[in-house]
Amino acid sequence: MKDSTMKDSRTKQRLIIFDTTLRDGEQSPGASMTQEEKIRIARLLEKMRVDVIEAGFPAASPGDFNSVQAIARLIKDSTVCGLARANAKDVARAGDALKAAASGRIHTFIATSPIHMQHKLRMTPDQVIDHAVAAIKQARGYTDDVEFSPEDAGRSELDFLCRIIEQAIKAGARTINIPDTVGYNLPAQFGRLIEKLLEKIPNSDQAVFSVHCHNDLGLAVANSLAAVTAGARQVECTVNGLGERAGNASLEEIVMAVRTRQDEFICDTNIDTTQIVPASRLVSHITGFPVQPNKAIVGANAFAHEAGIHQDGVIKARETYEIMSAEEVGWSSNRMVLGKHSGRNAFKQRLKTLGFEFSSDDKMNKAFARFKDMADKKHEIFDDDLQALVTESGNEAGNERFILVHLQAYSATDQTPSAKVVMGVDGIEVKAEETGNGAVDATFKAIEKIIESGSALQLYSVNSITSGTDAQGEVSVRLEKEGVIVNGHGADMDIIIASAKAYINALNKLYNAEIRTHPQRAQAV
Ligand code: KIV
Ligand code: ZN
Repeated sequence: MKDSTMKDSRTKQRLIIFDTTLRDGEQSPGASMTQEEKIRIARLLEKMRVDVIEAGFPAASPGDFNSVQAIARLIKDSTVCGLARANAKDVARAGDALKAAASGRIHTFIATSPIHMQHKLRMTPDQVIDHAVAAIKQARGYTDDVEFSPEDAGRSELDFLCRIIEQAIKAGARTINIPDTVGYNLPAQFGRLIEKLLEKIPNSDQAVFSVHCHNDLGLAVANSLAAVTAGARQVECTVNGLGERAGNASLEEIVMAVRTRQDEFICDTNIDTTQIVPASRLVSHITGFPVQPNKAIVGANAFAHEAGIHQDGVIKARETYEIMSAEEVGWSSNRMVLGKHSGRNAFKQRLKTLGFEFSSDDKMNKAFARFKDMADKKHEIFDDDLQALVTESGNEAGNERFILVHLQAYSATDQTPSAKVVMGVDGIEVKAEETGNGAVDATFKAIEKIIESGSALQLYSVNSITSGTDAQGEVSVRLEKEGVIVNGHGADMDIIIASAKAYINALNKLYNAEIRTHPQRAQAV
């Protein structure tokens, strides 16, 4: 087990980065991910040197259990964590899912605010302590690395918090996480809370104090940083700030604030910041949640200078208007890398640099054939094109029930748009023709006529992967049926074809047995 309190070579203390994109992030309405997608994100987080990856909530559903188990088997350099409510069944599921982990953590929680204890749990404070202690002791039977969270700590009474945390540490919790579950706290107040907990709890020196802030008032990052200044040494966060409601503290903002203001912090993270932009793109691509252009660090405009006076300053000396460099956070990775004459090895190596490795030669060959096809049509191929291409190949690599065989769409200014679609359905070709409000609408109707899924379209979004009229269009489609939500993706230089691919990709996920009820709904059961 890694010692999370260790100091780095510059004698700075370590600030542990606990990423919960795959757990709290996935609780974002509509952000559901397949196991394969979660594995891709987990690999990139490992490459980024995230200390702890919260991979899911194993008791929520068999699909969540399988994802945590698969990630625990694959990830070697980061600790893999599973969430569990403070009850015997949840802890056992988390322990089982993490059995194969090189370094596994169980994160157990129970609510401690008067409002949650009375209305949600219907337990007395003493009962809540008993549940927490029992869960922690049980979790220690699986791993030494146990984290405890008093849920809604930000609205809990200080004396009760001190009492339960003291008992939790005695029971064997090594990390104590203080969540501002509803995003109610303010920076100075939250900082004081951490200070008081560290001061008042007699055994506080035997655990790492962590924080987990939600962004309901837009203060998740500010609250987390105030807590770090007050002595917290782990921050729970997500890529792009994804998470329940308004989201969690954003990983990239926390990491870059601490790194950029080393004059103010006595700690630093071990994060490889050049992986920040690739991770942001991957998460945005998989979930279908776009990143706003003016988002700090990872927004398209984060390093763009429009005003002439700024441009002039940056040309003379970058530091005039830039406090970080774009390269430091991974923006340089979008340069042109490969072309028509690039060979198989160069293709494979470039993808490896982007954090993608093929699980079989067959998958690699399929992707390479698609790359050659694209290189024939498109002059310059960028890293983003490659990312989309491997996702496309992933879409086709499994034994998909539905495939697009042929599409012909028609639109004109003065005629009704129409589409003819030929699909492979369980190996049999089926055709349909439809009209619609536009070519995409007609295409979706024709596909739906063939599959009769009865699902509702919740989101349709188009992004240009790179610039120029030969850029690939990347389409995300979100479908919902009886509580199951899936996100489909497709990329092509033709938007209508990209849309059809995305819709069919979503349908394949919807009909995949591994797909489970969205974690938010599963938890309520
Ligand atoms: O927001 C919260 O309180 C949580 C806990 C499970 C840590 O996500
Ligand atoms: Zn949370």
